[in-house]
Amino acid sequence: MLTVKDFQQMKEKQEKISMVTAYDYPSAKQVEAAAADTILVGDSLGMTVLGYTSTTQVTLNDMSHHAKAVKRGAPNSFIIVDMPFMSYHASIEQSIQNAVTLFQESDVQAVKIEGASEETVELIRRLTDGGIPVVGHLGLTPQTFNVLGGYRVQGNDEVTSNQILEDARKLEEAGAVMIVFECIPKELGAIVSKALTIPTIGIGAGVNCDGQVLVYHDLLQYGVDRLPKFVKHYTDFNTIGVEAIKHYVADVKDESFPAEEHTYTIKNKDFLPKLKK
Ligand code: KIV
Repeated sequence: MLTVKDFQQMKEKQEKISMVTAYDYPSAKQVEAAAADTILVGDSLGMTVLGYTSTTQVTLNDMSHHAKAVKRGAPNSFIIVDMPFMSYHASIEQSIQNAVTLFQESDVQAVKIEGASEETVELIRRLTDGGIPVVGHLGLTPQTFNVLGGYRVQGNDEVTSNQILEDARKLEEAGAVMIVFECIPKELGAIVSKALTIPTIGIGAGVNCDGQVLVYHDLLQYGVDRLPKFVKHYTDFNTIGVEAIKHYVADVKDESFPAEEHTYTIKNKDFLPKLKK
C-alpha cells in the first residue's frame, strides 16, 4: 500500500498521482485492479449511489457504511474518506470525535475535509497531531454550494485566487498531507501546485496539479446524465448496461435464456415428484 511519504515523493519526482472515487465493494475492486494510486470515498456518493440532489444529505453513518465496503474491496489501497456535511463544524471536540469514529470504523488511511476556516485549520492540526492524516479540499467545496451560490468556478478574480493560495498555505502549515482543488482556473492550479510542498490533486483544476481525481460514475458514465466540463468519459456504462439488460429481457421473452448450459438436470428422473392427474 502506498503511504503519504510515497505521494510526497511522487510530487518531488513529478510523477502524477491518480485518484478515483469508489463507494462500494465492486467499484473499489475495479479501482484497485486498475492500479489507481489512491481511492477517495467521496461524499459524492450521496448523488452517485444514493440519488440525493446534493452532498448535504449525506450522514456520518452513510460514509462509514460505504467506506467499510470500499475497504473490503480494496484492502491494499490508500483510502481517503470524506467527512460529510456539518460533521466537523459544531465544536472541535465533536469534530475530532466524528473523525476518529469514521477513521476507526472504516479502517481507512486519511480523512478529507472541505474549507480553511480557523476551526478547520485547527481541526487539521489536532487530527494530524493525533495520527490521522488529513486531505484538504479547496476551490469549489460542494458541501457549501448553497453559500457559494451554486456549483461554479472559484478563484477567477484577484481576491478569491489569492484567498485560495493563502488558504492552501494554511492547510499545508497545519499538516494536511495533500489538497484537492476543485473547479479553479488551470493557471491557479499551476500556481498552488508550485507554491505548496504537499501534493495537489485537481478536479477541474488543469493538468499542472500533482495528480487528478475523477468520480467513478462520471468517468464510466454510469447512472449520471449530465457531466461537468472537467470530466472525460472513458466509456458509456449507461448505454452498455441498458443494452445488456434489454438483451436479457428479450432472451427471457423468446426463451433463448436460460439455455442448456445455464440449466441443471437430474440424473434419475424417477426421483422427480409425480403430479396427481
Ligand atoms: O466527494 C467527492 O467525490 C469529492 C471529489 C469531487 C473530489 O470530493
